Amino acid sequence: MRPTLHQLEVFCEVAHRGSFTRAAEHLSISQPTVSGQIKQLAQTVGLPLFEQIGRRLFLTEAGEALLASSREMFDSLDRFQMMIDDFQGKKRGKLQIAVVTTAQYIVPRLLGEFCQAYPDVDVSLQVTNHACLIERMEDNRDDLYIISHPPSHIDLELEPFIDNSLVVVTSRSHPLAQRSTGTKLPIRKLAEAEFVMREAGSGTRRAIERHFAKHGITNVCVRLELSSNEAITQAVAGGLGVTILSRHCLESVTMHPDLVQLEVTHFPIPGQWYVAHLHGKQLSIVAKSFRDQLLAMRLIPA
Ligand code: PGA
Repeated sequence: MRPTLHQLEVFCEVAHRGSFTRAAEHLSISQPTVSGQIKQLAQTVGLPLFEQIGRRLFLTEAGEALLASSREMFDSLDRFQMMIDDFQGKKRGKLQIAVVTTAQYIVPRLLGEFCQAYPDVDVSLQVTNHACLIERMEDNRDDLYIISHPPSHIDLELEPFIDNSLVVVTSRSHPLAQRSTGTKLPIRKLAEAEFVMREAGSGTRRAIERHFAKHGITNVCVRLELSSNEAITQAVAGGLGVTILSRHCLESVTMHPDLVQLEVTHFPIPGQWYVAHLHGKQLSIVAKSFRDQLLAMRLIPA
């Protein structure tokens, strides 16, 4: 006996939402129907697929394996449907993208153009930090990724995309802003400052820490950690210290009258984004089209 497509759909939904009730709501079916489908599926597989510990639902090892196979199968069916649509001269289907937070200043605009050209494509964009993006890669959740520091343990197809250097920003009234007239501030002066930093798990944070370590700066004083680039610029404008952020966030900085970019030696920290997908992943026609569009506008200085 083989699992039915419907059972696998229900199973993926429960695994994704971590709850029978939420899966039932999302699929607009009753909770007993969901439980019944999962029970039958487990009987077909011959092993339990979930285990309930406390109030949380966890996948068993067999459940993890079934989830990976089901995702591959649904991806393959989606690609087939998109290929048929393409034969018929229509671009339709799904595009699932995940990007690091700093790329949110660029990618939604590009997606806007893409959606206008292909109104029947259903797009999902996840904006998240570096660590969460890696988890999504490990789970094969998306078609395309935009990332600055590709992990070495995941086999990726990478194309350089756009420069993403990091610059130092503070408020006009900060002592370092007052001191930096004309000449560049020596990097060691940053060790005297209090910082507003991104959270652990952020690619920006990691790049800053590595850069400081390279230049012998240890014990940086982090006064406040925030996971949003916008919240950081507001905190810095409010006088909470210095920050280092992507030059792509500068649009909001230059629009803010209380903020100023500091000229510091060994800055900006060089960096770039890559357009990535998992090696061996069969990109759909829609994903390939969007990747081509991204690469056509890439701007990497020589
Ligand atoms: P972050 O990543 O959003 O995790 O800071 C930014 C980047 O890697 O460019």
